[in-house]
Amino acid sequence: VGGRRTRTSATGVPGKLYDLPRRRGGCAAGTERRSNFRDAVERLTALLRPYRLLYLSYRHEQTEAAVTHILALNCSIAGETSVSRALVAETILRLREKHPEASLTLRDLGEAPVAHLTPDTVAGVRGVPATDAELATQALSDSLIAELEQADIVVIGAPMYNFSIPTSLRAWFDHVLRPRVTFSYSESGPQGLMKGKRAIVVETRGGLYSEGPSKAVDFQEPYLRQLLAFIGITDVTFIHAEKLGFGPEARELAVQSATTRIVEAVV
Ligand SMILES: Cc1cc2nc3c(=O)[nH]c(=O)nc-3n(C[C@H](O)[C@H](O)[C@H](O)COP(=O)(O)O)c2cc1C
Repeated sequence: VGGRRTRTSATGVPGKLYDLPRRRGGCAAGTERRSNFRDAVERLTALLRPYRLLYLSYRHEQTEAAVTHILALNCSIAGETSVSRALVAETILRLREKHPEASLTLRDLGEAPVAHLTPDTVAGVRGVPATDAELATQALSDSLIAELEQADIVVIGAPMYNFSIPTSLRAWFDHVLRPRVTFSYSESGPQGLMKGKRAIVVETRGGLYSEGPSKAVDFQEPYLRQLLAFIGITDVTFIHAEKLGFGPEARELAVQSATTRIVEAVV
């Protein structure tokens, strides 16, 4: 039981599928000891299931019409063992099953980082470029923005590093958040210009941040939500793989649950 299969996606990116056994009886003491509360939750879940299916089919229609190009970003420094990279590959695989005609740009910021802005290059993004270094930075920014502009769906693999995002992903945003190109200032405040796109963000974390005491120090999800919203991408699905540092069983469960969420997100 359990076991892990690896397959190669249509993109050539290895995707990992995790088959885990279902937990028998729902809790260690067996079904007869389930609480009334749990029964009530199950009844409510069953009651809401038709509405959830309706919602998923609505999402299906919304996404099906739109997807002709996918931009996928990875930034883990963990190479082949990266969970976010495997889940991004799984997301691409599922998207391309639904949209076989969709083309793909895969940018791996972990393997090939975009340089951080420096005093020598910042004018390429936030000023008037004049030097070779500034012009080269503007050209890089132009091409990263073109990749984004082309995409209907952006898939981002974002590990949590020190409560936030890897600096390589931040460097990508530093090149892509560009005044008058991806956002502008109007009388009513800043306006995102990258409208009509959807994002699926896979967040991997060693600990638990979606609930409990560490929720307050999750600077990863609110930050990513703001960065994307600032350039006009507000249709964002966040998928978590949490407690990856809690041992192999917790890790497998986290990956299995994230994979289920990916399947639902891509309907
Ligand atoms: C530099 C660094 C900092 C990290 N900081 C955190 C952290 O603040 N909170 C956390 O839960 N996990 C932290 N982790 C653990 C990663 O989030 C976890 O290993 C996750 O699986 C990384 O994604 P990946 O497998 O795609 O590389 C950190 C890992 C590294 C390498």
